[in-house]
Amino acid sequence: MCGIVAYLGDKEAYPILINGLRRLEYRGYDSAGVALMNGDVLTIHKCQGKVSDLESHVVGKSLSGSIGIGHTRWATHGPPNDVNAHPHRSTSGDLALIHNGIIENYASIKEELGHRGHIFQSDTDTEVLVHLIDDIQRTEKVDLAEAVRLALASVVGAYAIVVLDSKEPDLMVAARKSSPLVIGIGEGEFFCASDATPIVEHTKNVVYLEDGEIAVIDRTNGLKIRNVKNQEKTPFIQELEMHLETLEKGGYDHFMLKEINEQPRSIRDSMRGRLNLAKGEVVLGGIKDYEQKFVNAKRILIVGCGTSWHAGMVGEYLFEEFARIPVEVEYASEFRYRNPIVNENDLVIAISQSGETADTLAAIELAKNRGATIIGICNVVGSSIARVTHAGSYTHAGPEIGVASTKAFTAQVTVLTLMALMVGQKKGVLSGSNFYRLLNELDAIPEKVQKVLATEAQIKYIADIYKDATNALYLGRGYSFPVALEGALKLKEISYIHAEGYPAAEMKHGPIALIDEEMPVFVIATKGASYEKVVSNIQEVKARKGKIIAIVTQGDSVVRELADHVIEIPETPDALVPLLSVIPFQLISYHIAVMRGCNVDQPRNLAKSVTVE
Ligand code: M6R
Repeated sequence: MCGIVAYLGDKEAYPILINGLRRLEYRGYDSAGVALMNGDVLTIHKCQGKVSDLESHVVGKSLSGSIGIGHTRWATHGPPNDVNAHPHRSTSGDLALIHNGIIENYASIKEELGHRGHIFQSDTDTEVLVHLIDDIQRTEKVDLAEAVRLALASVVGAYAIVVLDSKEPDLMVAARKSSPLVIGIGEGEFFCASDATPIVEHTKNVVYLEDGEIAVIDRTNGLKIRNVKNQEKTPFIQELEMHLETLEKGGYDHFMLKEINEQPRSIRDSMRGRLNLAKGEVVLGGIKDYEQKFVNAKRILIVGCGTSWHAGMVGEYLFEEFARIPVEVEYASEFRYRNPIVNENDLVIAISQSGETADTLAAIELAKNRGATIIGICNVVGSSIARVTHAGSYTHAGPEIGVASTKAFTAQVTVLTLMALMVGQKKGVLSGSNFYRLLNELDAIPEKVQKVLATEAQIKYIADIYKDATNALYLGRGYSFPVALEGALKLKEISYIHAEGYPAAEMKHGPIALIDEEMPVFVIATKGASYEKVVSNIQEVKARKGKIIAIVTQGDSVVRELADHVIEIPETPDALVPLLSVIPFQLISYHIAVMRGCNVDQPRNLAKSVTVE
């Protein structure tokens, strides 16, 4: 959580920082602040609220300085208010620090520093760190970089930090452990940020800082990297593939709507260069060396959180159907603390849009320590998960800014489908003709998604009818069960309507008691293996006067007779239905949230990447 950005160069820092904070706001938006260094004068402006509140807050104030740091917060320690906002300042007033992560042993450090005369202003763990660095500078008589290094040696937890010192006005020091930090290298200027989005418009040359590394950025000497053991490291400069237009709303009212509409392209991008119809093959370059591991796997474990976990559930059905490999799908947060049975015979697929989710990272670490092979499915190139896994396939969905995950889900499911088909073919489980048929069907999905998007006006009409509901039920069977869960998650996270996803047949074991004429029930009732069974479930809802909104296969007349509303999607094999049926759920949540006046892209209490447990 939290977004950090920093600049050192010849330009005015403030406009670069504020623009960067706007790009990072998806990571947290309960307070924001900047510190600017003008000569040896260090000024801090910060306040509760969004980046736009900070912009109002600084009107008429001094904003000069060509070195600066900025922060947008998602509160962990201490409520969102002006005092707890970052940057935090040392007692001496010389240092300013921004931080993303959690200092777990902050209480003991705070107590110790308190005995030594430090007075704390805020409730945050972060403030402890700036006092600690300040204290070490004085007692050890060392410069900022060395004080940061010594301080970090006594810190337990996760951090990405950038620190300024008015005594060394041409320098900034950054460091990371378990929280991301990217350094941009321009012409005579440097940038630091939680991800590359604030950097891409200034330079394409970046260095992803590794865990335990400290970057010392100096006007004269440029960038130097060392680790906490004080060993010098050679910066590995990479070229960003990100494009600026992918970070803009592009005429849409919200990023979420833009990202929903991008799905024909993002799904195509997930398949690009991987699905070759002419040759009748699937080639996933990133896992090429691990194909045999897949083929020989006795079991696959899939770990993820939230929407990524839902995609993993679709993956379970795909691998079991196409490759006949048993699969277990685990919430990363449960897996990591359960002492699970994992060993070198296991293949673990870790799914994460951001590639930074703390629980998923910890689950990977656990499985890796027990000898399992870890395959990543991530969207963010160069992210922590992409780097700690043995191999993997990027989803190539492009930056997802809306907090509610949409195109990431369909991209993850697309990659899982490619993997399962590839393994099924290599294992000989899928016959040549079946494999080829499925490849063709998958290739046709982007055009079919486009057709589903064309139902938006009808979905908006339905949204208007149910926008004031207080509860909703989502039902599906087989491949559609994870989509029911995803539909319910989308509705609750952006419109704050309580919603539950259930396997349709489980309804009669409890949730049916909730159904009355007030309850909208969203059902996926596409033609396929469980069609008749789901039709029976719809009858059960109807008998109790529930309102039925059904997603059906084009041309269906049976469900049309029963349901209050039907949304048609093109015909496709059961295994590919999630790629189509999730779209109406995304759109309905979006429109309901807009109609209820909710902040769609930045829902309350949430942040895009959950880098704390
Ligand atoms: O970046 P990740 O895919 O690891 O994130 C996992 C979840 O935090 C994420 O999917 C979350 O549930 C979204 N808000 C869902 O829309």
